[in-house]
Amino acid sequence: MTRTQVGIIGAGPAGLMLSHLLHLAGIDSVILESRPRKAIEETIRAGVLEQNTVDLMVETGVGERLKREGFVHHGFDFRFEGHSHRIDLSALTNGRAITVYAQHEVLKDLIQARLDAGADIRFGVGDVVLHDVASSPRITFTDADGKAGELACEIIAGCDGSYGVSRPAIPAEMRRDFLRIYPFGWFGILAEAPPSSHELIYARHDRGFALISTRSADVQRMYFQCDPADSVENWSEDRIWEELQTRTEGEGFRLKEGRIFQKNIVPMRSFVCEPMQYGRLFIAGDAAHTVPPTGAKGLNLAVADVFVLSRALERFFKAGSDEGLQAYSATALKRIWRAQHFSWWMTSMLHRFEDATEFDRRRQLAELELVTSSESAARTIAENYVGLPLG
Ligand code: FAD
Ligand code: PHB
Repeated sequence: MTRTQVGIIGAGPAGLMLSHLLHLAGIDSVILESRPRKAIEETIRAGVLEQNTVDLMVETGVGERLKREGFVHHGFDFRFEGHSHRIDLSALTNGRAITVYAQHEVLKDLIQARLDAGADIRFGVGDVVLHDVASSPRITFTDADGKAGELACEIIAGCDGSYGVSRPAIPAEMRRDFLRIYPFGWFGILAEAPPSSHELIYARHDRGFALISTRSADVQRMYFQCDPADSVENWSEDRIWEELQTRTEGEGFRLKEGRIFQKNIVPMRSFVCEPMQYGRLFIAGDAAHTVPPTGAKGLNLAVADVFVLSRALERFFKAGSDEGLQAYSATALKRIWRAQHFSWWMTSMLHRFEDATEFDRRRQLAELELVTSSESAARTIAENYVGLPLG
């Protein structure tokens, strides 16, 4: 049996950042992760980091490569009815900005920093089960070689994403789940091509939403709204480019095309579990909530949750006070519901809804006109997009 102060389930952004922050505060943790390190470091997901996330990474010594290789963006475009309208993020938020730096690069940096500091991260574990979470928590598992293991801890942090085992360990009668499923998904691609735009483009078109993002000078990330039940096999390169070109057309704009080397379809939903605590179990990140990616908030919310949790755990272990832990769920949920609203708002403003009437269509365009022409409306978008201050 291994003993530690905080047993962390999941080595995603939430689990790794929590372990890193606890280490800086002199608190011991062990991470149990079901996937191999290589798989984690190769999975393509988020790309947009809020100013807060960037600042936290830099301030805690894991932002060196991010500073060197990330792309700082001071604005983005809303594109509708064939025209682009820039949201000047920095002008509207006192100089704040977002940084495009892929999630798996963040994970590589955090894993390296944790291992360099001697952290105990068990990759490739299976059969993870939580025990006695209300009194003296333990986690049993099998390690990568199939050997049985047990971790005794004072606190369990459930950072195991949407389909993990931590949230179900909160008894159903003690929690409330809030869910909205959208009738569409995102078809995501990675293409070998130069950037088509120096900033992100969020496009609304009668055929549906499209998003033009980037990864590097030679690799571009793009998405378009699709049927969540569709298959990537139904989409040839030509068909994908035609759809993306159509949805972003106007003012002579053309996307720069190139070989597509990755395709995937993700469903879209909004989800919150309340409260995010039961006994000595605290859940964070996607284990507790999901947002549709239109607001680029998922990874950033995961980081914000564990920032709050790490502070609370520091008070608990150093001052013997559980006040912060008692307040964790309510504190985190404030930011989470703000992000839920923003992500739903961006999603509903930009996507095509099958049952929309002509009235809905005009209302949607009027809303886009508002957020691109009224400074106060644009500022609301910008403040939420770059991220409200932590703490
Ligand atoms: P995860 O990253 O899901 O990590 C959970 C970890 O736990 C995983 O490594 C998993 O293997 C492990 N695990 C699961 N079950 C177990 C178990 N039983 N035992 C042990 N380990 C387990 N967010 C943004 O902020 N900006 C964006 O631009 C953005 N774009 C996105 C685009 C797409 C296409 C998608 C799919 C998501 C996007 N997101 C974005 C969301 C973001 O990727 C997630 O919100 C983020 O990964 C959440 O981090 P997490 O650590 O909570 O969970
Ligand atoms: C991405 O680059 O993957 C990305 C950017 C913005 C979003 C979602 C995803 O809103």
